Amino acid sequence: MSKTYGVVLIGCGHIGEAHISDIYFREEIRIVGVVDLNLDAAKLFARKYGAAYYDTDYHELIQRSDVDIVIIATYAHTHLPILKDCLAAGKHVLCEKPMTQADMQAAKEFHDLVKQAKTKVLIAHVLRHNDTYTKVRNMIREGAIGEVRFIRMVQNHHIMNPKRYGALLEDCPPIVDCGVHYIDVIRWFTGLEITSVGGLGTDIDGHGTNEFDHGILTMKLSNGGSAYYEAGWANNLAAENLKEFIGNKGRLRITLQENRKQDAEEGDLIEYYTHEDGKYTTINNPSKYKNMWGQLQTLIQMIETGEEGNPSFDEAFEAFMIALIGNEAAKQNKVIDLNYRWDHEF
Ligand SMILES: NC(=O)c1ccc[n+]([C@@H]2O[C@H](COP(=O)([O-])OP(=O)(O)OC[C@H]3O[C@@H](n4cnc5c(N)ncnc54)[C@H](O)[C@@H]3O)[C@@H](O)[C@H]2O)c1
Repeated sequence: MSKTYGVVLIGCGHIGEAHISDIYFREEIRIVGVVDLNLDAAKLFARKYGAAYYDTDYHELIQRSDVDIVIIATYAHTHLPILKDCLAAGKHVLCEKPMTQADMQAAKEFHDLVKQAKTKVLIAHVLRHNDTYTKVRNMIREGAIGEVRFIRMVQNHHIMNPKRYGALLEDCPPIVDCGVHYIDVIRWFTGLEITSVGGLGTDIDGHGTNEFDHGILTMKLSNGGSAYYEAGWANNLAAENLKEFIGNKGRLRITLQENRKQDAEEGDLIEYYTHEDGKYTTINNPSKYKNMWGQLQTLIQMIETGEEGNPSFDEAFEAFMIALIGNEAAKQNKVIDLNYRWDHEF
């Protein structure tokens, strides 16, 4: 990294703070400005993280020549119009997932814009930059559990901030919003394709909208194995987090530090079991859950070397499309075959 990058953050909310708090003090970064529709939020971020400029509107700011990178950390339905403006202004973009609201047409428009862009775009799949996830992925790829047969993943949130989750739910149900991470994890960890997806959706809190606040995706893998993913944001759900990978030779489970009941001081917990020798190993792995600096460094690497992102744009797009198809499967209560899509592109 040879230069200092001028960065603008659009969206001073939950994930915006995870980004800026991990980058504002880095030598290679200068925070040029922060933007939020809520002026108080933008002002607070400017004071906290040393930005000279704050506003409720980004249009003027992104034209400045000292801005190199824009981080888009707003709601999903705003990503596409903001991306369009940033690319037209010649800026590189780190855009939060999901790419767009749950709408295939918008997703395809986003895709085409990125494919034609002269600047770099990285979709923020932060688990790709998490050391524990990377370690477990490498163990699986090196054969630690043999052939992957079954994956179980749960990410339920007991919501304490109905306004924030209500806004997220207007754009995407949790099986899409969180699902893009875990669909990507399945493919990244195993190198397998998802050949069909089934869905179940429920409106637990009775929003009465068309979107489910809880859902389950069931997936068949190209080696005949299976996976499921459950995600919910509801008042009456208990928070739950399960990430388990089961092969014909062993089993691996990830428990993040914040979910550990014992020895959380040691970092994340990786549990590794092999049936043949009856061995059960625990690995403590100190790791930053949201490694936003590592993620931004990936974008800078893309800018400086022309390399693909992590995930590549195609990998992120495919994960999003599978999540959208899974959402359709949940709405129609059926299983959708993806083999045709793999043959003909999404
Ligand atoms: N990668 C992850 O782990 C992760 C975690 C949470 C959220 N997210 C994603 O981040 C995005 C934001 O979610 P959040 O939880 O931070 O929501 P949030 O409500 O905490 O923050 C969003 C902020 O964006 C602002 N905003 C909305 N539209 C805007 C616009 N046009 N211009 C400027 N500001 C605008 C809102 O005022 C709000 O302050 C969503 O796409 C969500 O899926 C990712």
